[in-house]
Amino acid sequence: MQRAFEKFLLNGLELKNRFIKTATYEGMYEQGLPTQQLTDHHVAMAKGNVALTTVSYGAVTPDGRTFKDQMYIHDKSLEKLELLAKAVHNAGGKVSIQLTHCGYFSKNTETGKPLAPSRIFNEYGFMSGLAFSKAMDRHDIERISGAFASAAINLKNAGFDAVEIHMGHGYLLSQFLSPWTNRRKDEYGGSVENRARFPIEVLRKVRAKTGADFPVLVKLNLSDGFKGGFTLEDCKIVASMLEQNGCTAIVLSGGFTSKTPFYLLRGDVPLKGMIQNGENVAEKLTMALFGPFMIKKYEFTPVFFLNQAKEVRKVVKMPLVYLGGVNSKQDIEMVLDAGFELMALGRPLIHDPQFLTKLQTGQITESGCTRCNKCIVEMDRGGIRCTEVS
Ligand SMILES: Cc1cc2nc3c(=O)[nH]c(=O)nc-3n(C[C@H](O)[C@H](O)[C@H](O)COP(=O)(O)O)c2cc1C
Repeated sequence: MQRAFEKFLLNGLELKNRFIKTATYEGMYEQGLPTQQLTDHHVAMAKGNVALTTVSYGAVTPDGRTFKDQMYIHDKSLEKLELLAKAVHNAGGKVSIQLTHCGYFSKNTETGKPLAPSRIFNEYGFMSGLAFSKAMDRHDIERISGAFASAAINLKNAGFDAVEIHMGHGYLLSQFLSPWTNRRKDEYGGSVENRARFPIEVLRKVRAKTGADFPVLVKLNLSDGFKGGFTLEDCKIVASMLEQNGCTAIVLSGGFTSKTPFYLLRGDVPLKGMIQNGENVAEKLTMALFGPFMIKKYEFTPVFFLNQAKEVRKVVKMPLVYLGGVNSKQDIEMVLDAGFELMALGRPLIHDPQFLTKLQTGQITESGCTRCNKCIVEMDRGGIRCTEVS
């Protein structure tokens, strides 16, 4: 167990141990700008002995937001994020941010038709009048990859220690990787190498802007979790491509938010809260009527992605970050035994930011998180929190 608390050098960045707080959408924003609550949340992670905490969902452009009041990376948000980075450093931690674009999965009516690899029906935004996405042209491709790179360098300059490019969970870059959403006939569609072309271009531009010695992580799906989606075989090929194109470490996850959202979470589906959070009567009704059929439930088991992740471990030498269901001392040992240098945690740290300290000092041996998943409902109610603790 002590080995989990040993230092690790991530492309020149010294991490005090092997633990990363993974990106979990905090919902701590006012008119699209980070609040003090967001800073406090990440400072609590640093104080709880997390080596690297990840701010979630930094949209790289206004049209990369799933809804209009979400944060995107620009001068005003950078001012606040700079203060957040300083506060995390003062608390003894390091800080990263997830850079992303939602693609077609948007109900942000401010920026016109959502972008995607192909024209796709938008289940999430059709009630807001955004029924179909626009297939991205060359200009869109250049603009968005450039925006990822500008966001990354601006965040580096604002004091961030690393960035994580989101290529998973059914967001834009994952939509390119998935044959389910990428039906292009040009060099950006078809074979897995072609589907990976745009995500790799994004990585190369980010690397070129931020320099050789900056940690650039990538969150990548092991699989989308449904037939016709991105597979584990695809993942192994893309992982090797990422390794050859300047990626520092891959955070392995899975699932596609618009289709298999609970594949990446496992555990209970908090349908009641999700219905209450619907923006209007129509949305609430759709969720109430179709939610039980649309949202598939997956049973929670500890380290639920470990078997798939081990397959990727066999094909790359670069640092890999295990994510998904790390719940106990025993799980941590299993992840390290399987050859993963680092691991990321979400819900155990939302439940208790002191989880790691308590494990290290022997106060507890496992998390008290029950995977009720009510924390996801809280994102839209003033900020994520565990509803099971006072
Ligand atoms: C409340 C909540 C919000 C999440 N938001 C994000 C997000 O913004 N970006 C992302 O990549 N994953 C997000 N996830 C998924 C987590 O990063 C992670 O994959 C998942 O929680 C499984 O890890 P765990 O078992 O340690 O919680 C979220 C998860 C939760 C519970």
